[in-house]
Amino acid sequence: MTLPILILNGPNLNLLGTREPATYGYETLADVEALCHARADELGLQVEFRQTNHEGQLIDWIHQARSRCAGIVINPAAWTHTSVAIRDALAAVELPVIEVHLSNVHKREEFRHHSFVSGIVLGVMAGFGSNGYRLALDHFAHLLRG
Ligand code: DQA
Repeated sequence: MTLPILILNGPNLNLLGTREPATYGYETLADVEALCHARADELGLQVEFRQTNHEGQLIDWIHQARSRCAGIVINPAAWTHTSVAIRDALAAVELPVIEVHLSNVHKREEFRHHSFVSGIVLGVMAGFGSNGYRLALDHFAHLLRG
């Protein structure tokens, strides 16, 4: 059995489904979690899915992943554009990381075009809605088999 993939979600993503649906759609975070578990089962992966509105909590989870997870899928939400601390935490644990955004951040306001995280991750999925999480898991399955 391989180690789990940790799927982390940042602030306001608990409001998915009712939050700016024109941008983020009508799926709830529980729907995204269910999709991730279903895909992980198909791929033979184990996943842990979490969300927090507290930056220190997210950093603690990233640190704990070092010894217990095979990789991280992260949607840092607004912290993508503000947090050197999350970038440093991800760099410190030396795990493969895939950054996911539901929306295409490059099509939106200019302040969303810069990510502190992108420079230290394997790759970025943006604009594919919840399918971005599924694609990230597909890539982890490919990596872990290879
Ligand atoms: C987001 C994009 C961010 O700019 C925004 O702050 C979010 C969600 C996305 O999934 O599209 O909260 O990460």
